[in-house]
Amino acid sequence: MANKDGSPKGGASKRIDEPTGTEFVGHEWDGIEELDTPMPRWWVWSYYACIVWAIGYVILYPAWPLLEKGTEGVLGWTSRGQFAAEMQTEADRRAPIVAALASIPIEKLPENAANMREAISGGAAAFKVNCVQCHGAGAAGSKGYPNLNDDDWIWGGDLKAIETTLVHGIRWGGSRETRLSYMPAFGRDGMLTQAQISDVTKHVMSLGENGAANQKGAEIYAAQCASCHGPSGTGDRKLGAPNLADAIWLYGGSRAEIEQQIYAPAHGVMPGWKDRLDPVTITMLAAYIHSRGGGEDFVDRTAKEGAAAIEARPETGAISDEQR
Ligand code: HEC
Ligand code: HEC
Repeated sequence: MANKDGSPKGGASKRIDEPTGTEFVGHEWDGIEELDTPMPRWWVWSYYACIVWAIGYVILYPAWPLLEKGTEGVLGWTSRGQFAAEMQTEADRRAPIVAALASIPIEKLPENAANMREAISGGAAAFKVNCVQCHGAGAAGSKGYPNLNDDDWIWGGDLKAIETTLVHGIRWGGSRETRLSYMPAFGRDGMLTQAQISDVTKHVMSLGENGAANQKGAEIYAAQCASCHGPSGTGDRKLGAPNLADAIWLYGGSRAEIEQQIYAPAHGVMPGWKDRLDPVTITMLAAYIHSRGGGEDFVDRTAKEGAAAIEARPETGAISDEQR
């Protein structure tokens, strides 16, 4: 405390500001003097608390970077470890579903609605990562990349056919079982003249009721095209020959675009996924594509053909009996 006349009480350096009772620091600027106001108590205690907290943190958690890695902390916690644990929890949750999807033949998947739902949602996620760059975010495709939402299938739209397309790809060098077929380059390789190409183009357009039928074109079509695209242009999935009678075009439906395709066809290539995605992910993707609107029911053709062969046998037998 200061004396009444303001003279220092203790040493010569100690002067006290009367109104506040606070000591002067001793600095002065143009008559304004600095006071040595103490820190507020709450601030000082927060500061100490922070120090204590920091020491505790350094002991418990990874903190100091060292040359190879950081100090580890006695709790042994790491962000990587936490991430791995969360992934493990999710993997555990999905394990029964994954096991189910791995064991059920894909054509039987729709029999269990819950499995099908899980597969579709898993497939939707995998589609975003692997397929959108070519087929578009909504799977609607673009020129050369088919729309996967419609029921117009080049190679087949049941679960099994879609799975085969995904596993082995289309015109993909990585699998011997890839979907493979090439339309001849009728113009470039001199199989048809420009006039013939123009005639057959007119015929192709008439298949979709978008042009006048013409006799010459129809004859060329029957001779050159029907073996792959079918007599009435409905296509052949075994050969990946698109339906020419619907209004859906992979490479465009204008006269010029169709002529171009006949002159020197474009051929789409899709990689197979068997080396990049595990079988369950491929199953999920097939389920997702199947669910987009154009999915078809699986028909067991081998069983059907087998049954047909058995039915046909007595007849053949009868004929051969007569012949005998
Ligand atoms: C590099 C581009 C590319 C990527 C990536 C791609 N596709 Fe394709 N996909 C194509 C092309 C091109 C075709 C058409 C091939 C043809 O002309 O027959 C096609 C065809 C298909 C078909 C056959 C459609 C039909 O009508 O039969 C399916 C199903 C399909 N893709 C699904 C997928 C899925 C699922 C993925 C992701 C795992 C995927 N695609 C990724 C390019 C791609
Ligand atoms: C060996 C089988 C084969 C023959 C023969 C063939 N095509 Fe094709 N055609 C295909 C295939 C396969 C594609 C699809 C190419 C692709 O998906 O990349 C195709 C595609 C097309 C397309 C494009 C369809 C679209 O959706 O954009 C047209 C048009 C077409 N063919 C017309 C013809 C005509 C006309 C002839 C006869 C002069 C013919 N094709 C003969 C196999 C054949």
